[in-house]
Amino acid sequence: MSSAKPKILVTGGAGYIGSHTVLALKRAGYEVVILDNLVYGHRDLVEQALQVELVVGDTADRPMLDKLFQTHQFDAVMHFSAYAYVGESVTDPAKYYRNNVVGTLVLLEAMLAASIKKFVFSSTCATYGVPDVVPIPENHPQNPINPYGASKLMVERILSDFDVAYGLKSVRFRYFNAAGADPTGLLGEDHNPETHLIPLILLTALGKRESISIFGTDYATPDGTCIRDYIHVSDLADAHISGLEYLLQGGNSEVFNLGNALGFSVREVIAAAAAVTGLNIPITECDRRPGDPPSLIGSAEKAREILGWQPKYPGIKEIVQHAWDWHQKRHK
Ligand SMILES: NC(=O)c1ccc[n+]([C@@H]2O[C@H](COP(=O)([O-])OP(=O)(O)OC[C@H]3O[C@@H](n4cnc5c(N)ncnc54)[C@H](O)[C@@H]3O)[C@@H](O)[C@H]2O)c1
Repeated sequence: MSSAKPKILVTGGAGYIGSHTVLALKRAGYEVVILDNLVYGHRDLVEQALQVELVVGDTADRPMLDKLFQTHQFDAVMHFSAYAYVGESVTDPAKYYRNNVVGTLVLLEAMLAASIKKFVFSSTCATYGVPDVVPIPENHPQNPINPYGASKLMVERILSDFDVAYGLKSVRFRYFNAAGADPTGLLGEDHNPETHLIPLILLTALGKRESISIFGTDYATPDGTCIRDYIHVSDLADAHISGLEYLLQGGNSEVFNLGNALGFSVREVIAAAAAVTGLNIPITECDRRPGDPPSLIGSAEKAREILGWQPKYPGIKEIVQHAWDWHQKRHK
C-alpha cells in the first residue's frame, strides 16, 4: 500500500450503491475520490452527504484517467459505474456494451498502466439468467438472457483473464436486488427513470404514481407473484469494505453473491410497504413480462465464510422503513 490511509477511487460514486459505499468507506477511515459522469448520479448528494472530491468524467476517457492516476496514488478502484436498465439493454445493446464493457476495459488498462492492481466490481445476479436451482450458488452456470447481464459477464471474464495475464486481483460481487437507504437518512435511492419495485411502491404511496403494477399473478409461487432477494444497500456497502480489505491484505481474485438468501414476493413487499406507510397502495395486475423467472434467491454462504460478512438488515420491513424515511424527505 502506498499510504497509511488507503486511497480508493470509486467510479459511479454519485449513484445509489456507490454513494452508500463511499459513506461506509469514509466512516471506515479511507480516503475517497469519486469519478462519475453524472449521467445518472447526484451532485447534491456528493456535496451535502459525502463531502469527498468528485471528478466529473467518463471511465472511457483515457487521457483524463491517466491524469487522475498521476494526481492521486490509488490503492484500489471500486467500479460501480455502468448502465443498468435491463429493458433498455434489449432495445439499445450498443449503449450497454460500449459503456459497461468498453468503458470498463479502458479503465482497467489505465489502472494497469498506473500499476493499480486491486479492483472491486459490481456484477449482478442477471449473469445467471434463469436459474436451475435456488438459492443460486456462485458456481451456477451463467447464461444471461439480456445484453445487460451479458455485458457484466463479459467484464467478469475480462477480470479472470487479466488476473492470469497481468496479476490484476479482483473481487466480483454479484448483487441481488439492492434496496433500502442509509439508516441515518443521509442517502437513499433516486433513479430516474425508476424501475425498482420498492421505490415504485413508495412513489405510489406518496401519490407520485397512480398504482403499482404486478407483472404476473399466476407463477408457481405461494401467492402467484415473483419472489426476489432484497439486500439492504448498507449491507452491500459493508460487504464492499470487507471485499476491499480482503484484497488489500493480499487475497486472491474471488466472486461472491451478495443477497439475503431470503425471498419476498411482490405481494409481500407491497404488504410490508402498506404496513410501514399506513397508506393505501393501489395495485394494477398485469400479464407476466418475458424473461422474469418466478424466483431469484442467492446463496450468500461464500461471502459469510470468506469475508465474514453478515447482513445487518435482512428483514423486508426494515428495508422498506429506511427507504420510506428517505423517500419522504427526498420527495417533500
Ligand atoms: N441496483 C441494483 O439492484 C443492482 C443490482 C445488481 C447490480 N447492480 C450494479 O451496481 C452498480 C451500481 O448500481 P446503482 O443502482 O447504484 O446504479 P446508479 O445508476 O445509481 O449508479 C451508477 C452511477 O454510474 C455513473 N456512470 C455510468 N456510466 C458512467 C461512466 N461511463 N463513467 C462515469 N460514471 C458513469 C452514473 O452517473 C451513476 O451515478 C451498477 O454497475 C449496476 O449494474 C445494481
